Amino acid sequence: MHPKTTPPSASRRGNGLSDRSDHLKINLGCGPDVRDGYVNVDARPFPGVECQDLSTIPWKWDDSVAEEIMMLDFLEHFSYRKTDSILQECWRVLKPGGKLVVQVPDFEECAKAVLIVTPFDCNNCEKVILQPALACPHCGHTHSASTDAALNRLYGGQDYDGNWHHTAFTKSRMRRYLQKNGFENFQELELVHQRVNWNFKMSAMKGEQRWD
Ligand SMILES: C[S@@+](CC[C@H](N)C(=O)[O-])C[C@H]1O[C@@H](n2cnc3c(N)ncnc32)[C@H](O)[C@@H]1O
Ligand SMILES: [Zn+2]
Repeated sequence: MHPKTTPPSASRRGNGLSDRSDHLKINLGCGPDVRDGYVNVDARPFPGVECQDLSTIPWKWDDSVAEEIMMLDFLEHFSYRKTDSILQECWRVLKPGGKLVVQVPDFEECAKAVLIVTPFDCNNCEKVILQPALACPHCGHTHSASTDAALNRLYGGQDYDGNWHHTAFTKSRMRRYLQKNGFENFQELELVHQRVNWNFKMSAMKGEQRWD
C-alpha cells in the first residue's frame, strides 16, 4: 500500500524510444493537449499521443526514470479506490526529487458556487461575486446556470468513454493523499486561473523517506 525506498520491481516492460530521455517528462491523460518536451499518453488516439490504458498498473516505465509527471484533469477519472495506487505508481516512476503536477476540480469552489457562499468567481465573466446574489452582478449569469456548471464540473463532461469523474478532491484531501503516498513540498500553482475554472493545480516532489 505504501511506497518504499526500494521501489517494486514489477514494471520492467520495454520503453519506447521517446521514453529514453534522461529528462523524461510524462503528460498522463493528455487528451488533445499534446505538449512539447513530454511523452503524451492517453487512452484515446490523437496525433502525437501514445495510446495506453492507464488503469492497468504497473505502467510500462521503469522505476525512477521520469523527472516530471503531469496529470491535468485526469486523476478524478479513476475510482477513489485507485487514487492511492495511481499516486504510488507516479512515485515509483519519478526520480527521487522528481515533480508531480496534478490538477483536478476543486470541490470547495464548486460547492461555494452552488451554495452561493461568497466570494466565488463567476464562471461566465470570471469576475468575483462578493455578495450572495441570484445572478452575477457583473454579467447577469444566473445562479442556476452557475449551479449547473459547478455540479457538471464535479461529474465530468460525460461526452466520451473515460470522461466521467469517479472521485472529488479538496486541496487538503489532495495534500493528505500526496503525503501518504510519499510526496512532499506541495505548491499551489496558477491560483487565479484555477479559481475561475473551479480547479486547483498543485505540484509536489517525490520524497525519499520510508512510509511502511
Ligand atoms: C478531461 S480530459 C483531460 C485532458 C487534458 N489533460 C487536459 O487537461 O486538457 C481526461 C483525459 O483522461 C483520459 N483518460 C481517462 N481514463 C483513462 C485511462 N484509463 N487511461 C488513459 N487515459 C484516460 C481521457 O481519454 C481524457 O483525454
Ligand atoms: Zn459574471
